[in-house]
Amino acid sequence: PERYRILTGDRPTGSLHLGHYLGTLQRRVQLQDAGVPTVLVIADFQVITDREDPGDIQRNVYEILKDYLACGIDPMKTVVFTHSSVPALNELLLPFLSVVSLPEMERNPTVKSELAASGQRVLNGLLLTYPVHQAADILFCKGNLVPVGRDQLPHVEQTRVIARRINDRYAGGREVLPEAQALLSPAPLVLGIDGDKMSKSRNNFISLSHTADETAKLFKKAKTDADRHISYEPDTRPEVSSLVLIGALLSGQEPEDFAATIGDKGGKALKDAVTEAVNEHLAPIRARRLELAEDQAHLRAVLRDGNERANALAEATLAEVKEALGM
Ligand code: ADP
Ligand code: NA
Repeated sequence: PERYRILTGDRPTGSLHLGHYLGTLQRRVQLQDAGVPTVLVIADFQVITDREDPGDIQRNVYEILKDYLACGIDPMKTVVFTHSSVPALNELLLPFLSVVSLPEMERNPTVKSELAASGQRVLNGLLLTYPVHQAADILFCKGNLVPVGRDQLPHVEQTRVIARRINDRYAGGREVLPEAQALLSPAPLVLGIDGDKMSKSRNNFISLSHTADETAKLFKKAKTDADRHISYEPDTRPEVSSLVLIGALLSGQEPEDFAATIGDKGGKALKDAVTEAVNEHLAPIRARRLELAEDQAHLRAVLRDGNERANALAEATLAEVKEALGM
């Protein structure tokens, strides 16, 4: 465990959903509990990468914090902080930008698909450079293991390239910054009820804060296909298979076994079974979330402490990078 330091995070655009939970959050909790030092960034500046209206960022920061703690993130072990509270992150960005080219940033496939999904016509500078910001978010604490969903793989690759170039160009090949690895979960791409990637911006999600009834209503609308026989075939039946995977992971079964329990009973039976698995698994998490909402002072203290620890880590790394640059 000591060889690794986890860094990953989320944008405060609302409560987290099943894509976040199965794609990365559950894995973070497991690694934290296995003793791996873990740092979680609530990436508030990143909210405005693909939208003009930031929404209620302050409130959403606390929504995510409640999700983390309710899912088992332990603030005694794990540092949770907001990007905007750690100014050294933005200072690290400057040398990082010096080693990345414009065509390299323009080629990033996730940036392209986020631009398309955002409905904006032109790429703004923050969306263009956000994989580089993310490199600073990862490397400021020398994070080397990044549990993420599939959409983040190009950014982790960009982070590796940046670390290597900073080490080579400014430190004579000495490892000032580590080359981070991505860690994919068994559900690296959870689909939403419309069959697209589950995402807050697509409004197709089941969130940790939805009630059991809301969850049931949403799953009733989920897209399936015409074949009444339920099977797990992610390549040819993506919508049905994503539902099967959600149900299987949350009820501790193999996807093939979960599908077999539905057999020829069709899409409605599948949705009912998935709804039950989700509601059962999330019940204690949802209950803890409601309890946490009653203790604003505790939530504020967790963030204050996390911000302090993150600042100390960032200052130390920034000093090393500046030293490598001869400043
Ligand atoms: P969103 O796409 O909903 O705005 P973020 O960009 O904040 O969410 O993503 C935070 C983390 O959650 C990233 O590691 C991302 O890969 C993961 N993630 C988000 N949506 C999904 C999904 N549908 N399936 C798997 N992982 C996901
Ligand atoms: Na995303």
